[in-house]
Amino acid sequence: MSIWQQSSEQEQEWFLALEQALAEQRFERLILSQYHGEQTDLEKIIFKPVALQQQAKLSCIYRYKTQDITKNYSFEEALQQIQQLLSECKQANLLLNDAELQLKKNKKKVQLIQSKRQQVNQQQANTHNREKQRYLQLTQPYLQDLGITDQQAKVIPSMAKKWKQINKFTEIFSNAIADLPTQQKELQIVDFGSGKGYLTFAMYDYLQQQGWQPHITGVELRHNLVEFCQDVAQKNGFQSLSFFEGDVRSYQPEKLDVMVALHACDIATDFAIHCGIRLNASMIMCAPCCHKELRPQFKSPEVLKPMLQYGIHQTQQAEMLTDALRALLLNAYGYETKVFEFIGLEHTSKNKMILAIKRKQLDQPDPKIMAQIEALKAMYGIEKQSLQRLLEDEQVDQERLGCRC
Ligand SMILES: C[S@@+](CC[C@H](N)C(=O)[O-])C[C@H]1O[C@@H](n2cnc3c(N)ncnc32)[C@H](O)[C@@H]1O
Repeated sequence: MSIWQQSSEQEQEWFLALEQALAEQRFERLILSQYHGEQTDLEKIIFKPVALQQQAKLSCIYRYKTQDITKNYSFEEALQQIQQLLSECKQANLLLNDAELQLKKNKKKVQLIQSKRQQVNQQQANTHNREKQRYLQLTQPYLQDLGITDQQAKVIPSMAKKWKQINKFTEIFSNAIADLPTQQKELQIVDFGSGKGYLTFAMYDYLQQQGWQPHITGVELRHNLVEFCQDVAQKNGFQSLSFFEGDVRSYQPEKLDVMVALHACDIATDFAIHCGIRLNASMIMCAPCCHKELRPQFKSPEVLKPMLQYGIHQTQQAEMLTDALRALLLNAYGYETKVFEFIGLEHTSKNKMILAIKRKQLDQPDPKIMAQIEALKAMYGIEKQSLQRLLEDEQVDQERLGCRC
């Protein structure tokens, strides 16, 4: 029996709407979720329109537990893929520029739910170039205040790399936000080590454009940067964006939905991650830099000595170990964690990102993962890692107070 003979009326109606939307250029995004097919660890499949060499295509992100794989398809190929995947996914959200069509399936029934969306500017076409700018508009005055654009809203040549980095960050951020298991529109965000605020402003702008209500605080040690960012925020009427002069290590927000720490130096990253875990943040996003803590403690395991006889290899290994311990600790505390390249090395040498989404509420850190952490530390002679120490101290404090929340 063909897939179509097996599929319900609702599925056929949904698929027809998809075909029409592609033909009429009303298609914005398709998210297929709750996959139950044969591909291990495949969680979600996202289709977006792109234009490659002036041809309209669909870019498809296969989102696995620990990595994303992107493929580009012609419309025809994409429709075949979608048809197949539809039989293996329990939910399909089709976002058009004016409506959303959600298909939900369980053993008993298939539901097709239609809702209206705000009309999006038809001129948001789908070329790769426009796709790059979709997240942020160059005409936004704050970009000029930050020194990214000139008076004609053109990128200043010396800031081109920074602009690329901001866009890449916003793309990753937007995908992560779309993946949040929350229905609330209000988001409390802290950007630890906000520097000159390029990414802090980008997040605020993007979220506002998408209809969220962001409340963002940038935390930064340097007075001049805090003053500068505060002025730019005020000038642009960004009322829920503020900057706090102080140390990441002592900043204690009351509520935190999204924790961001991009290139916060050394163990400032650990303090920021700890704050996110402690406040049960739904999302933790960091790009660690200057990994100094483990290097002096690092001892080469006997079998790795020939490889690690070179100082640079020891430094790289200590760096990898630091981030692996951070990612594992996040896993142990109920987060699904991805570690990946943030942007190509030609743009910045600080290019690794750890992205964690809270998936489980646990009473205790997962003992199996904690054992893996201990084994790794023992192998490399590591006595102390800041994130682990902070989490352990917190647990001791809670036990002392008899708190099991
Ligand atoms: C490399 S910059 C990154 C800025 C910004 N996040 C970005 O990616 O564009 C790191 C910033 O973190 C700040 N910083 C480092 N340690 C800090 C700490 N303990 N508390 C607050 N800010 C810190 C530095 O002053 C610097 O501005």
